[in-house]
Formats: sequence, structure tokens, C-alpha cells
Amino acid sequence: MSIRYDQEKKLLTLETRSSTYQMQVDRYGFLHHLYYGRQVDGANMAYLNSSYDRGFSGNPYDVKFDRTFSLDTLPQEYTSFGVGDFRINGLSVVNGDGSYGADFRYIGHKILPGKYAIPDMPAVYDNGGEAETLEVSLMDPVTRLMVKLRYGVFEDKDIITRCAEIVNWGQENVRLEKVASLCLDMPFGKWDLVHFHGRHCMERQVERTPLIHSIQTIASKRGMTSHHHNSFVILCDHETTEDSGDCYGLMLMYSGNHKTEIEVDQLENTRVVMGIHDAQFLWTLPPGESFHTPEVLLTYSPSGFTQLSHNYHTIIRHNVCRGKYKMARRPILLNNWEATYFNFTLDKLLHIAEQAAELGVEMFVMDDGWFGRRDSDNSGLGDWYVNEAKLPGGLAPLIEKVNALGLKFGLWIEPEMVNEDSDLYRAHPDWAFSLPNRHPMMGRNQLVLDLSRQDVRDYLYECIARLLRENRIEYIKWDMNRSLSDVYSRQLPRERQGEVSHRYVLGVYELMDRLTTDFPDVLFEGCAGGGGRFDPAILYYSPQIWCSDDTDPIERIKIQYGTSFGYPVSTMGAHVSASPNHQTGRTTPLKTRGVVAMSGTFGYELDPNKLSDEEKEEVRRQIAAFKKYYWLIQDGLYYRLTKPQDDGFYSAWQFVAQDGSESLINMVVSSPQPNSALVHVRLKGLDPDGVYIDEGQEQRRYRGSALMYGGYTFPVLHGDYPSMQIHLVRVGEAVKD
Ligand code: DGJ
Repeated sequence: MSIRYDQEKKLLTLETRSSTYQMQVDRYGFLHHLYYGRQVDGANMAYLNSSYDRGFSGNPYDVKFDRTFSLDTLPQEYTSFGVGDFRINGLSVVNGDGSYGADFRYIGHKILPGKYAIPDMPAVYDNGGEAETLEVSLMDPVTRLMVKLRYGVFEDKDIITRCAEIVNWGQENVRLEKVASLCLDMPFGKWDLVHFHGRHCMERQVERTPLIHSIQTIASKRGMTSHHHNSFVILCDHETTEDSGDCYGLMLMYSGNHKTEIEVDQLENTRVVMGIHDAQFLWTLPPGESFHTPEVLLTYSPSGFTQLSHNYHTIIRHNVCRGKYKMARRPILLNNWEATYFNFTLDKLLHIAEQAAELGVEMFVMDDGWFGRRDSDNSGLGDWYVNEAKLPGGLAPLIEKVNALGLKFGLWIEPEMVNEDSDLYRAHPDWAFSLPNRHPMMGRNQLVLDLSRQDVRDYLYECIARLLRENRIEYIKWDMNRSLSDVYSRQLPRERQGEVSHRYVLGVYELMDRLTTDFPDVLFEGCAGGGGRFDPAILYYSPQIWCSDDTDPIERIKIQYGTSFGYPVSTMGAHVSASPNHQTGRTTPLKTRGVVAMSGTFGYELDPNKLSDEEKEEVRRQIAAFKKYYWLIQDGLYYRLTKPQDDGFYSAWQFVAQDGSESLINMVVSSPQPNSALVHVRLKGLDPDGVYIDEGQEQRRYRGSALMYGGYTFPVLHGDYPSMQIHLVRVGEAVKD
């Protein structure tokens, strides 16, 4: 049992393999947060809760003369609001009488088998008997506003999920100005914040800073997860490394505006509040109705970042991603975007597909430019019918020929967007977001469709479903290429405009849900100008997401490195593109591009006809290698061996089979130097007593412990950005005296 209640002490304890999470109800009904950290095997942690009289931290009326009891200093599971806690709040509410305030007291709890679901939103799921749910209800006795805190405990996977539901049991409408998914008080410890910032073509760069006495905010107001701040943070000890030290991960399963606030207060308590951003958020909750927040995936590792990442990799692979391709081998694809951009004809595409098939590629993907009058990014979005000037006869002749080459066929769409120059916009200008009487901001010359509207979603569903019904399309790349602004729905009254951003996200989920349910054999890949919407919610609908529009392998190492803290390689769309690279102009060897793209879903994004014979041979080798290492890469444990930002001239990372039987080590010289030091890395995760051979150099044998503690030395490599893969295979166990 991973959830226990001690009736006498009113203690609620959640236990996973490595962690304990504990809370306690006090005599006034306040729900104290006692502890989240290393497993303490059922210990009562209430002794940690000590209180003193603190100036200017007032006391609830019911505690009378106890000046030591203050909501302003008490570690809490979820905050009240406006009644004496001056730190960051989880909730902000305007009651029917105009007052700002909520005072939540415990009224009961339930322990349920399995994992809760969240209506209309993606959530981590239980594969059967692996999770339990705790539901704790708190109520404001005056307004009868209720908070239900839900906890999903995946004991073996070391994951606890959290979300909140607000129910209005009062008589009047309340207005919710902010509803966080989680508050997490950490009364002791000094922490570093690790977060993943970036920009278009440079997503999820790792930054680590000590927390200071302030409120630090990681957020997006772009209507999407964003390239700029992923909705994922880690708090860790100052000394935490890959292999040692405490760290906590918090990952929001949501694809819209998000905000994580971290406050270090007057008494060195750290409070984290994470959820939907409160900017432009105002939700009217009538009597009897509920508001559900998205959930947060929490994990704790007592042994550094690697374990934390493994916890996320496992839960995302097994309990977030779904569908046919969750575990099946995904096809090696060639996408024509960087090969042609908008400039293609049927013959040009077929010429590319023919060569791709000849090299061993398994799927051809036609990217942007195939529909409406889409000859540039100024027009056509919204008109999801074939541009017959480019593809006479529609999709059928192309797909038939592609299939005849032995390739599957995949297609790009960007359903959420519309160009002013499109038939759709001319027919329904009111379907696009814009503020009354103003011209909207343009982004890539396009506007955002109001997916909070059912009619818009139904239209899009029909367009895409027709394409999928009428054609043998086995893959869809779902793109999204601008931030949301001018968010205003013509279908909602003025007092509900603060709901539109969230309703938009719910609309995206509904559309994705309908399509993935009705077309279960199609492999969906998420995309938002690369990795602008890389989050677990999108992974619930598509098991992979195009990681970045930057395909330069040296830049990609950093992007994939940052992404790997929270997300498994099976989710990272990665392609080999042409050299010089189109984003940076850098020239790199084809081999290195292959090594980097193999640490993802792997595919190509170039015109294979432009490759030399030698390069074609290299592509054949890469495809064979990727197939050979597929399960090791996708299912194995992933280890970061270097930090690309610190370790100077090379980067290395490693995959190890779950049973330690084999390992693939990848090394790229990312900043070539003359007369350089040797590249020497200590390997990880091997069987210490195993004897390994380095395939291709079978005469040498290494003990696992030797490779991990003594390390492995690579030969000196010359040239521009050379790379190497080492495949170690365990051939036996060391004989000990
Ligand atoms: C942005 C994507 O990230 C690219 O891969 C490509 O599909 C373009 N959009 C097409 O417009």
C-alpha cells in the first residue's frame, strides 16, 4: 500500500520506492505539509513542524492567543487566500459578495485504487494495479468553495502526480483569478533551481542558479508551452550532481500559459507554486460547477539527476505516451522540408522518395506547402485540400507511388492556424483570434483559430479526418507556428474572455483526442516551430515531438541534452540534415549528424540525390546501425556523461540495456582543438562484474567496474567535429578469486 492514513495522528503518508510524502491535519482543520524527501519508512515527521511567534505574521482567529500559529509560516499542502498567508498563493478567488478570500479546512479524504483521470485533460495513466489515488477535500466553511487535492502514487516508478479541483458548493458565482495545480512547501534546505530556457532553434538550455530571497518565476504567456521556458523545473542541493545528491522534479502536464513561482521567504522556507499562468485568466465558476487544473508530475531522487531523469523517462514512456507506436518500432523517415521548402512538384518529391527508398528509409513525409495556395508562408493555412498546381490529381498519385517504392507516407498539417489569404479566412474571419476593433498581431503572417469554439474544432476535425479516411496516410506531423496573442473569442460573453486561453488548450486536446482515437494506426508527431510545445500533455497524444528547428548536430547536442533531463529519447524528433547546416551555416561530417540524430527518433531531412556515393554508403550504414541499436537506444537507460556547456571540446552520452548486457557510447568532438587532451569518460550503468568487449575490437576485454571507475579513453580524432560510437557487449562475468 503506497498511501496510508493514521487516524489517531491524522497523518496521511504517500510512499514510493525512494520517497516519502507526508501531510497532517491539525485540530483546526489546516492541512500541514510535513515532508517530501528520502524514504523514511513510515516515520512520523510531525516533529519537523515547529512554530514560533514571528513579527507581522498574524494568527487565525480560532487559535486565539497562540501567537506562534500563523498561516504565514506554516508549511501547507495548498494555500488559503487573503486570510493571513502573505507568501505566493495557489489560488486567488473573488467571492460572490466581492470579497477576496478563501480559508480552506480539511473535511475528509479518500484512498482509491488506480490513478485518477482529469476530465477533458490528459493525465498520467495506470497500466493496471500500479497506482493509488489520494483525494483530500478542503472546504471554506463560509463560501462553501471546495478544493479537492488529488495525488496519484506510482510506487515503483517513484512518481507522485498532483492536481486540484475547485468546486463551488456556494450559492453564487465565484471568479477564479488563479488556480495552481500544486503548492509545495519545503521548510528546510537551500536549493538550486535548474530550469530549461531558450528560444526558437535553441530550446531547453540548462541553467542552474541558487535560489535567493525573492520570487523567481519560470513562465510562458504565449498560449503555448514555449521555446522560451519549458514547464519543467528541478530543485536540488547546491552539491547535487548527475550521480549524487537530493533533487526534486516538477513537470506540468499542460500545453498553454504556465507559471512556476518559487519563493524563498523570511524564514528560509521555499515554496513552489505551479500551474496555469494567472495572466489573462479569469474563470467564472457557477454554483455546482468544478474547475480542474492540469497535473504536475513530481519525482524525488536521493541520488542525483540521472535517477530523476530515469524516473521521468519511464513514466513518460509507459504511462503518458499511448497508442500503437508507444512501444512499436517507429519508421525511419525522410522529411522534405529542408530539402525543398515550399518549392516542390510531384516529380521532385518522387525523385527524393525514390532515392530515399533506395537507401533504406521507411517513410516519406511531405511537409508544408502541399495545400491551398501555399507557395510561401503568406497564404493557404486553413485550406486543407491539395494544391493541384503542385500535385495534379491530389494526394493519391503521390501516395500510390511512394507506397509502391515500399515507403509509408506521412503528411504535415498545422490545424490551429489560418492565413488571411485563405478561403477559410474569407469565409469565417470571426474564427480567428483578434481583439474587437483592432488589427491582430501577425506571426509568420498567420492568425490563430479560436479552438475554444466547437464549430471551429468540428470543421478542423472533418478536414483532417477526410484526409485520413481518403488516403493511406500513416503519419501526421502536427505543427503550430506562432504564439497566441489577441486572444478573444467572439462566442463568449465579455465576462468570460479570461477563460479563452485555457479553453483554447482544452480545444486542442479535444481535437487531438478525437483524431488519435478515430485513427489509432496513425503515428502523430507534435511540433511547434520545432520544440515550442514539448510537454507531457502533447506526448499523451503523440509519442514524439520535433525537438527543434535547429538541425545543426553541434547545437542539437545541447538541445537534446537539456531535453533529456525530463523526456526520453523516444520522444525527441531528430533528423540528419544537409551540410552546411541551414540554420547555422556550419559544416559537419555526415557521420556526426547521424550519431546525434540517432539519439532521437531518427530520420533525414535533406535531398538524398545530392549526396555523393560515399555519403550514400554512410546513410546505409547509419540506417543499419539505427535498426541494430533501436531497442538499446529507445528502451535502454540514458546517461549524460558530459555537460555540453562546461566540458570543453567534446560531448558524450551513453545508452545501457536495462539488464546491463550491452551499451552504446556516443562521443562528438564539439569544439576541435589542436594537440588536444585525450577524450576520457567514466562510463555508467554497466554491470560491474560483467566482462565487455568493444565490438570491432574483440581482442580487448574490459571489466564493467573498470570502465565505470577507471573510464574509457577514445582514440584521438582529427578533423571538423568528428564523432565515434562504441558498442560494448557483455560476454560473461568476471571470475573472482
Ligand atoms: C516549422 C517546423 O518545425 C518545420 O519542421 C517545418 O515543418 C515548418 N514549420 C514548415 O512550415
